[in-house]
Amino acid sequence: MITPEPNCERALGIRPSVSAVSFDEEGSRVVRRIHHVGIVVRDLAEAYRFYRDTLSLPLVKEALIRDQGVRAALLAAGDSEIELLAPLDASSGVGRFLARRGEGLHHVCFDTLDIHAALAVLNAKHVELIDTAPRPGLAGAIAFLHPKACCGVLVELATPAEDAASDGSPVRLKRLVVGARDVKQTAGVFRSLFGFQEVAMNDGPRTMLAVGRGAILIVPSEEVGGTEGMVALSLVALDFESLMAAFDRAGTKCLRGTGEVTLEPASSHGVHLHISRYE
Ligand code: CO
Repeated sequence: MITPEPNCERALGIRPSVSAVSFDEEGSRVVRRIHHVGIVVRDLAEAYRFYRDTLSLPLVKEALIRDQGVRAALLAAGDSEIELLAPLDASSGVGRFLARRGEGLHHVCFDTLDIHAALAVLNAKHVELIDTAPRPGLAGAIAFLHPKACCGVLVELATPAEDAASDGSPVRLKRLVVGARDVKQTAGVFRSLFGFQEVAMNDGPRTMLAVGRGAILIVPSEEVGGTEGMVALSLVALDFESLMAAFDRAGTKCLRGTGEVTLEPASSHGVHLHISRYE
């Protein structure tokens, strides 16, 4: 997780309450789904043992990405994917992240139809970007926004070379949980930048934003141990019993409830995972 910018709205130079309408109109055509959630791991082969072999996510592709200093893999998780990133050395950005924070959630990537157009929209709004032009990545043509632009969440945009084939993965990504000091403000920034619509919820301190068939759930940081930025993933298992049997065989440490399970991050490479029965 990235150190959050205290005044992300000011950093953006926008006031979501004023500009949300025009952004929504542009943004609704910009982002199609959560393409993947990136997880930094120490070693790819070791991470495969949990994510591919125990959780049973099908491996889509693996490649060496020299300009990012990583060996990376994409595994299918329903409409989205999980990206595992292992640093090639300690000096790369991902290597420094691993040294500083250990394994865990690193970034979220949104699938956009036209990354050039998306960057042009963001540029025109003076959004802070790491990449002002797309470059080749594992997910296609990609570009990163500065985490300051999204309240401490590192966001990647990607236009895939080909449409994702239906994957048949037994576990799908349902939502990404983000901790925020100010839930409404953070939700406003995400809506403004990407045109996400709010999903109706009971009045409460949380806000849910729809992203394709998935969602981002923004919760007060005090609910999640003071963490700001990405804190957890919710997944849905098509065959919950088989998954529990796989956890038993692998000795995966988790807290089991009725129809849902929470993994200890030590078992899932630093990621808080909530997995529920398919409904
Ligand atoms: Co990525």
